Amino acid sequence: MFVLVNLKTYPCDPIEVAEAVRDVDDRTDARLAVAPQAAHLERVAETGVETWAQHVDPIEHGSNTGQTLAESVADAGADGTLINHSEQRLKLADIDGSVRAAERAGLETVVCANNPAQIGAAAALGPDAVAVEPPELIGTGTPVSQADPDVVEDAVDAAAGVDADVSVLCGAGISTGEDVVAAGDLGAEGVLLASGVAKADDPTAALEDLVDPL
Ligand code: G3P
Repeated sequence: MFVLVNLKTYPCDPIEVAEAVRDVDDRTDARLAVAPQAAHLERVAETGVETWAQHVDPIEHGSNTGQTLAESVADAGADGTLINHSEQRLKLADIDGSVRAAERAGLETVVCANNPAQIGAAAALGPDAVAVEPPELIGTGTPVSQADPDVVEDAVDAAAGVDADVSVLCGAGISTGEDVVAAGDLGAEGVLLASGVAKADDPTAALEDLVDPL
């Protein structure tokens, strides 16, 4: 299972969490990665953890003030990027442009979507993976696998119907190893989570709990 920890703009210490993700990754068969804010990418990547950006824009080098260039993210040490997170929504043409920009820069891609219909559209753009996250469950601590298991199964079917090579993650409310196992049982190949680790008093203990049953 792939466990991707999004730090959003939570007031955690990104280096402390990155080191915890790196160390727990070393002790498990699961694949763990962390997505800090853009300004923290370089310092986080220097810890040796698998590092993801939270967003890249559909642009090339040029006159794009305030935007995030995929090549700069890759130069900072990122291995991949989220695109179209529920808190950083893009138009379909811009999701496509961001996926192309990430590919150009050699970044792995996870395109987020709210529901199975959007997952089908996202998978058609050819990312490495898609992530289904019902927005109303984000940050609630109630896991999507429990509150709405059909969303995960339908997202897996929707992606497979478009492109069998696109893997599916699920997210929203995931905070325990039981949630991760439930996500896998519904067909997801990984989870995308944030508050369960970024807001934890002890990120290492939270991560160990997440991967314990894997
Ligand atoms: O990017 C992950 C996220 O949107 C889910 O957040 O806090 O419910 O794990 P959370």
